[in-house]
Amino acid sequence: MITSFAVEGRTELEIPDPSSYTFQGKYAPFRAPVFYNPQMEFSRDIAVVVLNIFAKARGRSVNTCDPLAGIGARGIRYAKEVQSVERVVMGDLNAESIPLIINNARRNGIEDRVEVTHKDANLLLAEHSEPGERFDFIDIDPFGTPMPFLDSSIRALKNGGLLAVTATDTAPLCGVHSKSCIRKYSSNPLRNEFCHETGLRILVGSVVRAAAKYDFGAFPLLSYSVDHYFRSYFRLSLGARRADSALGNVGYLLSCSSCLWRSTVAFDGDLPTSCEVCGSNLRRAGPLWTGDLSESDFLRAISGFNFSYMRTSKRMLKLFKKLSGEVGMPVGFYVLDVVSKRLGMGAPSLEKALNGLALAGYSAFPTHFHPKGIKTDAPPGVVEEVIKRL
Ligand SMILES: C[S@@+](CC[C@H](N)C(=O)[O-])C[C@H]1O[C@@H](n2cnc3c(N)ncnc32)[C@H](O)[C@@H]1O
Ligand SMILES: [Zn+2]
Repeated sequence: MITSFAVEGRTELEIPDPSSYTFQGKYAPFRAPVFYNPQMEFSRDIAVVVLNIFAKARGRSVNTCDPLAGIGARGIRYAKEVQSVERVVMGDLNAESIPLIINNARRNGIEDRVEVTHKDANLLLAEHSEPGERFDFIDIDPFGTPMPFLDSSIRALKNGGLLAVTATDTAPLCGVHSKSCIRKYSSNPLRNEFCHETGLRILVGSVVRAAAKYDFGAFPLLSYSVDHYFRSYFRLSLGARRADSALGNVGYLLSCSSCLWRSTVAFDGDLPTSCEVCGSNLRRAGPLWTGDLSESDFLRAISGFNFSYMRTSKRMLKLFKKLSGEVGMPVGFYVLDVVSKRLGMGAPSLEKALNGLALAGYSAFPTHFHPKGIKTDAPPGVVEEVIKRL
């Protein structure tokens, strides 16, 4: 393999040489013998921040597992950039990953805290499912869906542990390939202007349901949708009551096929079939997570952490600000272009629309899901009235 070097945060990484594995003149991660995607530095930066906050709250040293490690970028960064990480177990099914991970551990002087294994992720996790062998943090960062790795991750996590999942199968989760979403997540997606939120909620709901089988309550601390992927972090707490409490936020999303009305229904609630505003048929997505996608206390802790040394720090600040505004807001959002088109007018600026809703006495925030999206507690009729007046 031809390699070169990259720096992420405080970590130097040996990577597949970007100029040697190209498609149409550009680096193509899938062409490289070992997977490394420089675009995911943002995701890895956030992961380092999250683990720092989690480890500090844990108040002791933590063991972590990166079972789909690629070149080891995540696991190596955790050992190098999170002080209380005592041990990182890394694995990959690709034999060519292993020497690269070992080189990267040595290069960063953390080889004594790293264990590298050439193994299927589920096997590696199953070997750590006994008490005493379990991890404080597991990072599931696969190609496509994380679903095949959820059960073994939950069984290999300590009580109070942190689970991170990435899903890059946004087309199924957003309803472009709805049958695939039903197969992978046992959930019905909804293809509309807020499909990225629905997709992220399906992912979160699936983790909550998987954890509940083992009497774990899974509570999302931070969840977002950017670029081509979804990512969510969960605290898992053992106890049937905690599992029931988390499941209390799993239900269905109902959306009117002709007006902008939308609502949620509990998992065991009655499912109406027609819109309470205009009587049209309702479309249904779920089961999915209907609660907050991030915790405000966790976001507050993040804002007190100094991550200015990271290359993506400005982008992180913008994302965290938007996520904070979304906490406590209803499910779904309004896209200015969609609302304006229905009204037969041009779209106002985001700022004007936000101010208009605030002046009408409602909470209104931009959403990280869409550059022209608004999260508000105003009913759809009010949203239309306010935009019409602008
Ligand atoms: C998206 S890449 C991981 C990228 C890496 N986490 C990073 O941030 O750079 C997914 C990795 O999982 C590995 N993989 C796929 N299926 C696996 C399995 N069943 N067990 C272990 N590794 C697997 C692939 O070889 C690939 O390196
Ligand atoms: Zn309607």
